Amino acid sequence: MKTKKLSVFMLVQSLFCLGLLLAGVAMAQAPMFQPVGTVLQIMQGVVVPNSDVVFKVTSKPPKDDKDWAAIQNSALTLAEAGNLLLIPGRAAVYKSDIDADLKKGNGDWVKYAKALTVMSTKAFHAASAKDIKELDTITDDIEATCENCHAMYHPQK
Ligand code: HEC
Repeated sequence: MKTKKLSVFMLVQSLFCLGLLLAGVAMAQAPMFQPVGTVLQIMQGVVVPNSDVVFKVTSKPPKDDKDWAAIQNSALTLAEAGNLLLIPGRAAVYKSDIDADLKKGNGDWVKYAKALTVMSTKAFHAASAKDIKELDTITDDIEATCENCHAMYHPQK
C-alpha cells in the first residue's frame, strides 16, 4: 500500500516535471522579437534620418548642448538600428539563409549590422565627449559599413 502511494506520487511528480519541461520548450520557441517594418522601412524611418544628423557634424558643427544632444541621440539610435537589423525574419528576403546566419551569429549580414552598432556606439561616445575630430573619423567608418552592406545586399544603390 505504501509503495503504491509512493509510485502514484512519483507518477504525478514526473507528469508535473514533464509539464514544466514542455512549457519551457514552448517558451523558448515563442519569438522574443517581432519585426514590424521591412529593412527598407528601417532604412527610411530609422537609419537615414539619424545617420543624416551624425554625418552633418563636420559640415554643420554643433553650436550648443541641444545640438550635441541631437547628435548623441541619433548616434545611439543608429547603434540600436544595427540590433533591429538582426531581428530574425526581417531580412530573409535578401538572402534566404540570413535567419540561419543569425542563429549561428555569423555571415555578412550579421557582420555589417553588428559593425553598424559598434561604429555608432563609438560615435555616441565621441558625441558625449563632444569630440568633433573623432566623430569625423568615425562617420567615415560608418559610411563604409553602409556601403559594404549595400554592395552585397542592395547592389543597385
Ligand atoms: C546590414 C545591412 C545594411 C546596413 C548596415 C545598411 N543598410 Fe541601407 N539598405 C540595406 C538594404 C538591404 C537595403 C534595400 C532595402 C530594399 O530596397 O528592400 C537598404 C536600403 C537603403 C537605402 C535606400 C532607401 C530607398 O528609399 O530606396 C538607403 C538610403 C540606405 N539603405 C541608407 C543606409 C545608410 C545611410 C546606412 C548606414 C548608416 C545603411 N543604409 C546601412 C541594408 C543595409
